[in-house]
Amino acid sequence: MLQLLFCLSYFVILSSAVSRENFKTCEQSGFCKRNRAMQPGQSPYIALVDSLQVQANSLNIQLLNKNNNVRLKLEVFGLQDNMFRVKINELSPIKERYEIPVGDSLIEEPKLHNINLSQKDKDKVVFTMDSNKVVMSVEPFRMDIYSNEDPVISINAQGLMKFEHYRKKEEAPPAENEEEKPEGEEKKEEENAAETKTEEEPDMWEETFKTFTDSKPHGPSSVGIDVSFPGFEDVYGIPEHADTMALKTTKTTDPYRLFNLDVFEYELYNPMALYGAVPLMYAHNEMRTVGIFWHNAAETWIDISSNTADKSVFSHIADFVKGNNEIPQTDTHWFSESGVIDIFILLGPTPSNVFKQYARLTGTTPLPPLYSIAYHQCRWNYNDQDDVKSVDANFDKYDLPYDVIWLDIEHTDGKKYFTWAHEKFPHPEEMIKNLSVKGRKLVTIVDPHLKREDGYSVYTDARDKGYLVKNKDGNDYDGWCWPGSSSWPDFTNAEVREWWTGKFSLSEYKGSTPDLIVWNDMNEPSVFNGPEITFHKDVKHMNGFENRDLHNIYGLYVHQATMEGLLRRSGGKERSFVLTRAFFAGSQRHSAVWTGDNIGEWSHLKVSIPMVLSLNLAGITFSGADVGGFFKNPEHELITRWYQTGVFYPFLRAHAHLDTKRREPYLLPEEHMNIIREALRLRYSLLPYWYTLFYQAEQDGLPIFRPLWVDYPKNKEVFRMDDQFLLGSSILAKPITDQGTTNTNVYFPGRHDIWYDIETYEVYDGGVTKNVAAPLDKIPVYQKGGSIIPRKLRPRRSSSLMYQDPFTLIVCLDQQGSAKGELYLDDYHTFQYRNGEYLLREFTFNNNNLSSKNIDPTGQFNTREWIEKIIIVGYPKNPLNISIKNFSGENSKRLDHKYNSEEKSLTIRKPGVNIADVWTITIE
Ligand code: NOJ
Repeated sequence: MLQLLFCLSYFVILSSAVSRENFKTCEQSGFCKRNRAMQPGQSPYIALVDSLQVQANSLNIQLLNKNNNVRLKLEVFGLQDNMFRVKINELSPIKERYEIPVGDSLIEEPKLHNINLSQKDKDKVVFTMDSNKVVMSVEPFRMDIYSNEDPVISINAQGLMKFEHYRKKEEAPPAENEEEKPEGEEKKEEENAAETKTEEEPDMWEETFKTFTDSKPHGPSSVGIDVSFPGFEDVYGIPEHADTMALKTTKTTDPYRLFNLDVFEYELYNPMALYGAVPLMYAHNEMRTVGIFWHNAAETWIDISSNTADKSVFSHIADFVKGNNEIPQTDTHWFSESGVIDIFILLGPTPSNVFKQYARLTGTTPLPPLYSIAYHQCRWNYNDQDDVKSVDANFDKYDLPYDVIWLDIEHTDGKKYFTWAHEKFPHPEEMIKNLSVKGRKLVTIVDPHLKREDGYSVYTDARDKGYLVKNKDGNDYDGWCWPGSSSWPDFTNAEVREWWTGKFSLSEYKGSTPDLIVWNDMNEPSVFNGPEITFHKDVKHMNGFENRDLHNIYGLYVHQATMEGLLRRSGGKERSFVLTRAFFAGSQRHSAVWTGDNIGEWSHLKVSIPMVLSLNLAGITFSGADVGGFFKNPEHELITRWYQTGVFYPFLRAHAHLDTKRREPYLLPEEHMNIIREALRLRYSLLPYWYTLFYQAEQDGLPIFRPLWVDYPKNKEVFRMDDQFLLGSSILAKPITDQGTTNTNVYFPGRHDIWYDIETYEVYDGGVTKNVAAPLDKIPVYQKGGSIIPRKLRPRRSSSLMYQDPFTLIVCLDQQGSAKGELYLDDYHTFQYRNGEYLLREFTFNNNNLSSKNIDPTGQFNTREWIEKIIIVGYPKNPLNISIKNFSGENSKRLDHKYNSEEKSLTIRKPGVNIADVWTITIE
C-alpha cells in the first residue's frame, strides 16, 4: 500500500511542472551560502615561499590561511599536451579527503612535462613550461597563467578561495590529566579550534532541508576558488543544464549547479541541476580557446560574472584586445561540498587542441556499433510480445527504417531488473530472435535500485555479500523507487561492479541473447523519498566515504559496470551499447547519454539543441534528447519537426511517457509520416558519414554535433549561436523549432566558403545570413563546398541490411573547384578494427580529377562495398568525356554521365569500383 502511495505521488508530481520546492536553492545549501558569501579582495591565503620544493615536472608549496593558521599543500604539475594541474589539499587532514580514483574519471595518471623555475623571491614564484608562464603571487596567494605572454587564466585573483579543513566538533575542554599529545597533533587541534571559532555557522554540523536532516558527521568540508579568464567574454560547458550553450552570468540567479538529480519536467533556461555533471568549462575568443576541468565529484556550484581585466596586473596587454580600451574578462567561482581542489588547466590554444587535451584526460567515446547510431524506437511501455511484434511489423509495412526497439520498466516482474513479466513476455528469446533476423536489437531497462524482496536473488546476493550502500547507522540503505522499498549496490566499489558485470552473462540474465542491450535509468540515483529525490548525503560508500563526497560519479559507475557486463558476453569481441541518464566526466567511454524527461513542447525541442551541443563540447558526443518529448501529447507538426531535428542528434531515439497517446510515426497522418520517413532516410543515408565522424571522435575527442565556433573560431558572430550547428565540418543544419514556421534565417559561416542545399544543390555564400524557405517537409541542411560525403542511398529496413550496399559520393566543389573527404569503414560491429581490420579512405577532387586512396596503411579490410554513383555539385559545364583508371585492377574505362545545368550537378554512373580500390576519374 505504502508502495502504491509513493508511486502515485510520483505520478501526481509528474503531471505538473517541476516542483521547485523539492530542490535546494543556494540559500538552502549551507556550503553554497558560505562560499557565495566570500568577498573579493580579502583572501587570507599566503604562499609560504620557504616551503617551496621544485621537481622536474612539478612544484609544491604550503599555503597558510592567516585567519586560522591552517596549512594547505599546493601542488602544480606540468602536463604533456599543454596542460597544468593545480591541486590543493590539507597539509595534514584529520581524515582522508576524497579523491576520485585514477581510472574512473581520468583514464590514467596524466603524463608529466618539464617545468622550469625562473624566479623565486619573497613576493613571487615564477615558472615556465614551454611558452607558458605561471606567476604565483605570494600575498595574497594567486596564480596567473600566461600563454605566449598573454594572460589566459587567473586563479584566486578575486581572493574567493575557501578550504574548509576537517575538524572535530567543538568538544568540552580536555581533562587536566589527559596524556600529553605529540607536538604536531597539539598544533593541529589548536588550528582546528581556531577555525571552529572563526567560522562556526549554524548549518556546518547538521543541515535540514524540508523534512530531511543531514547528519554531517564530519562537519563542513567545502572547497572553492575563483578562476578568471582575462580576455574572454564567452564560456561554455558544465552540462547538464537546460540552458543556452553560451553560459550566462549568474549575478541575478543561483549559480549553475552540478548535482545529479532526477528533476522531472525540468524548467528551461535556468541553472538548476539535472541528471548529469561534467565540471568542464571552456573560454573562447577570437585568438584562443582554453579550459578548466574541475576534477571533483561532490555537489558543485559555479558562479559566472562578466568583468574587465585588471590592467594594473596585466600592464603589458594594453593592445590585447585591439581597438578596445577595456579588456573583457569572465570571472568564475567554483565550489564543491567536499573533496579537494584539483584543477586541470587546458591551454589550447585552438578549439581542437582543448578537446584533445580533455580527451587525453578522460578519454573518448569508443566507436559505437552501427545499429546504435541509427534510429531507436522507445516507449514506456511496449506492453507485451505481441505489441513488440506489431510495432516491428508496422515499421516494415510503412517502410520506416529502425534498428532498436526498447522495453521500459513494465517488462520486468514487479520492477525486478533482469527478470521478465512472464504473462506479457513469455518467450523473450524468441521475441529477440524475430527482431535480430532483420538486424534489429532489443533494449531492456536495468535500473540500479534493487527491490528488497527475499525471493529476488540479485538483491539477496548483494545483501548477503555486503554490497549495498549503507545508511548513516551502518544498515543497508532503504529507499523508495519503482519497486517500492529498494536498496542500491555500492557501485563505487570495484568488487561490486565486477559482481554486477556477471549479472549480464547470458546464463545469469535469463531470456537475454547477444542482441539484447541495456538502458540504465534512475542512476543519479533517483530515490523517491530521499532529499531532493536522491540519496541522503550521509549514506556510506566504501572506505568510509559518504555520498556527499562522490555523488556525481555514482551514475558513471553504474553504466561502466553495465557496459563491461555486455562486452564480456562476447568475450570482448562485439561492441555493445548502453544508454545512461546520469553521467560524469568520463561517462563518454562507456555509454550514450540522453537528456532525460523533457516535454513534448516547442520550447523543449528548441532547448535540445544547446543541451546536446553542451554535452558534445564536454566530451559526451553520443547524446540526444527524447524525440517527440517524453511528457504530454505533442501535435503532429511538433513531432514532425522533432524528427527533423532528432535525425541530427548523435543519439536518435523517440520515447514517450506511459500516459501519452501512442505516436509511432506510422500512426500519424500520412503527410507527417511521409516527412518523418524522409528524415529517417536522410539519417540512414548519411550513416557512412556519421560512422566516419564517430571514428574520428574516438581518435581526437572532437565534438560531432558542434557549435559553429569550433570550425569558425575567429568569427565572433557565431560564438553564441545555438539554434544551428555543424555535424563534423561538412554539414550545417538549422532545423525548424518554432510552430507554424515556413522560413528561417540561416547564417552561412566562412567568408570564403560556399554551402549547397543538400536537396536542391542551391548555392549559398558564406559569411551572410539568408532567409530560406522551410515548409513542413523541408529541413534547412547544407553541405559545405569543398567536402566529399559518402552516402548510402538505398532505403533499407535497418542499418545492418545496408552493410554491403554501395556508396554514392556527393562531391560539393568549393570556389576553386576542389573538394576532399574521408570515409572510415569496417565490419560495423566488432572490435576487429582495433586489430587493423578497417579502411580509412580519402577522396580528393582537384583539377578535374577525382581520386581515392587509402590514407592509413595500418588498416586493411576486405569488403564488397562499392561505388555506384558520384555526384559532383557545383560543376560548371557538361563534360565531353569521363574515364576512370583503376590502379587496383583494369585500366582506363569510359563512364556514363548526366549533367543537370540548372543544378550544376554532374552525375557519374557506375564507376563500379570497390571502395578499397585506388582509382582516378578524369573529367574532360
Ligand atoms: C524515467 C526516465 O527518464 C524515462 O525515460 C523512463 O521512461 C521512466 N523513468 C520509466 O522507466
